[in-house]
Amino acid sequence: MNLDTQQHSVNVMLRQLSFIRSSLIPFSSYSPRTSPIPPTSIRSQTRATMSTTPIQNESTQQTQRPVQVAQRLEKFKTTIFTQMSILGNKHGAINLGQGFPNFDGPDFIKEAAIQAIKDGKNQYARAFGAPELNSAVASRFHQDTGLVIDPEREVTVTCGCTEAIAAAMLGLINPGDEVILFAPFYDSYEATLSMAGAKVKCITLRPPGFDIPLDELKAAVTSETRAILMNTPHNPTGKMFTREELEAIASLCIENDVIVFSDEVYDKLDFEMDHICIASLPGMYERTVTMNSLGKTFSLTGWKIGWAVAPPHLTWGIRQAHSYLTFATSTPMQAAAVAALEAPESYYTELKRDYSEKKEILVKGLKEVGFEVFPSSGTYFVVVDHTPFGFGDDVAFCEYLIKEVGVVAIPTSVFYLNPEEGKNLVRFAFCKDEETLRSAIERMKLKLKLKRVV
Ligand SMILES: Cc1ncc(COP(=O)(O)O)c(C=O)c1O
Repeated sequence: MNLDTQQHSVNVMLRQLSFIRSSLIPFSSYSPRTSPIPPTSIRSQTRATMSTTPIQNESTQQTQRPVQVAQRLEKFKTTIFTQMSILGNKHGAINLGQGFPNFDGPDFIKEAAIQAIKDGKNQYARAFGAPELNSAVASRFHQDTGLVIDPEREVTVTCGCTEAIAAAMLGLINPGDEVILFAPFYDSYEATLSMAGAKVKCITLRPPGFDIPLDELKAAVTSETRAILMNTPHNPTGKMFTREELEAIASLCIENDVIVFSDEVYDKLDFEMDHICIASLPGMYERTVTMNSLGKTFSLTGWKIGWAVAPPHLTWGIRQAHSYLTFATSTPMQAAAVAALEAPESYYTELKRDYSEKKEILVKGLKEVGFEVFPSSGTYFVVVDHTPFGFGDDVAFCEYLIKEVGVVAIPTSVFYLNPEEGKNLVRFAFCKDEETLRSAIERMKLKLKLKRVV
């Protein structure tokens, strides 16, 4: 990106920030002609509701109308990742918040995309995926799990894993169905379940190990439960579900006829133990939707190529939703995704070696700064306890960290149904080049130690 483009992006984000700020003033305190935009903090933005807030429009300053949003999305805010990145840009902070690499994906995949475009692969793809990509996904699934699946009937290509999640929820969950989540959870789960009209039940994973409280889970799964939505390796904690935990989930699901949605986008970032796909456990394939994407494994988060693998009776619902959400996803990128999935084993070995080094730099640095760092077995995230620095909660800490220290982290309270449960924790990402990680640690060493309460 050249400097002009970077400056342009920052300007666009700053304009968005000012829009977010202006659009979050409560309607009751709004006076169209005179009221200036009151100072707001990230906290007031995140906790505000948008359904009765005014809109700022340059051409109709006198006739603003409340922002409108359907009830099912009323409680959700601008995602925390966007908010933190915008604030981070404003303050020139180093972004260890949002989970995207600050380095590029491999040339062989980019070249495959360029070639596909030149070869004229530019019109709509088949709705459920270009045949070559469905086959490549099926063959990777076979290598990873030992299961033989039918690429034509059991693979659906989607716009990133985000769309796979949405299509699975909208295609397989009825209003009122109960779905169990593990908190902290990736933020799209709750919003998508809300769009599907599901009832959400939450089981909290607690530090230091973020183990699944199996007794709580057993008590939660009943004949009312339609599905469990899980994620391993787990964002934000880096926890990987153990075989014992997966077997416990599997036996509860089989006993109670529950389906599993398993988000495995970090499956290739399994450092401390081998990733286990729950669909590969006995009796589970027929009741599991396994969701994945290209973004994390190939450092191409902007490409948004994902997929859902499920038996035909579940694939049907997913494809129905997918047909009316996006219909099909980018044709040339699907062609390049085939090249990605055909990468030799050495690609994955190198990826893990690289990330292990980055992880070591970040974890060691965070410990030296004074954080309590919780063990992370997979993903490119680590979660720490920020309380040694004397802040009341994670949002206050992250605001200080951006504005005064110059580093972006993500407050984890937004990943819980009850934000109180996450208020001591913040997440750092190590999908950044080593110099960036070291600079962020240096900034924290300089400025954070001084604030420490002893
Ligand atoms: C757990 C999890 N699932 C899904 C996604 C989204 O994946 P994609 O970019 O392929 O839509 C993310 C991205 O951060 C994630 O962390």
